[in-house]
Amino acid sequence: MADITIIGTGNMASGIAARAAIAGKSVQILSRDASSSAALAATVNGTSGTTGSPAEGSIVVLATPFGAAKEVLSSYGSALDGKTIVDITNPVNFETFDSLTVPAGSSAAEELQALVPGASVVKAFNTVFAATLAAGEVSGQTLDVLVAGDDATAASAVVDFIKDAGLRPVNVGPLRRARELEAFQLLVMTLQISDAHPNYNWNSAVKLLP
Ligand SMILES: NC(=O)c1ccc[n+]([C@@H]2O[C@H](COP(=O)([O-])OP(=O)(O)OC[C@H]3O[C@@H](n4cnc5c(N)ncnc54)[C@H](OP(=O)(O)O)[C@@H]3O)[C@@H](O)[C@H]2O)c1
Repeated sequence: MADITIIGTGNMASGIAARAAIAGKSVQILSRDASSSAALAATVNGTSGTTGSPAEGSIVVLATPFGAAKEVLSSYGSALDGKTIVDITNPVNFETFDSLTVPAGSSAAEELQALVPGASVVKAFNTVFAATLAAGEVSGQTLDVLVAGDDATAASAVVDFIKDAGLRPVNVGPLRRARELEAFQLLVMTLQISDAHPNYNWNSAVKLLP
């Protein structure tokens, strides 16, 4: 049985899988394409399958776009009861790059939690860029990974994972803080495509310093 299940095989899935390997965790990769899952799993000596197969990990990372994450949770339903679900999504309107696709006063994380009331959704990793996960640092500074969740045990499991993965977790409070994490990351994302900041280029990080 794997420690962590990652659903998706893209940039974030690859980065988080690599970090899970550093943390000494066994990894299961699931996606809609069996060969993509197998290819990513092979990089971390993990196991693989297609989405819909039983999720083995006590921690399940949704490394897909928000819309797909909703579909995945809806299809698993109560099969994920008791699991810690890590929501890394940024529900950005990519046509305008000017707004979120969730209404004010809500968040992707809260919408996902409503789909799986028997599981505990924790927001994490949405404020770090995939390109920075391999090194785990930017400009010599360890990546901060902001974490929000209502279930203290689930949030603590994610915090421990992040620590073991060589990153710095910062628990920012209850799941509703995901509203600010998602809105803030929209701002950070707009800076990556700003002509005024050509050196950011999806390879920057936000750091909280004491
Ligand atoms: N990239 C970043 O720096 C970054 C940073 C923070 C958070 N995020 C968030 O992380 C999530 C993943 O981003 P990414 O950059 O890793 O994206 P990506 O490289 O495009 O990978 C997306 C993954 O989701 C799968 N997928 C897409 N649509 C799907 C659907 N309808 N049903 C099932 N699977 C689907 C893709 O499968 P196929 O290969 O089969 O299409 C792929 O495995 C997003 O929610 C994003 O907002 C990204």
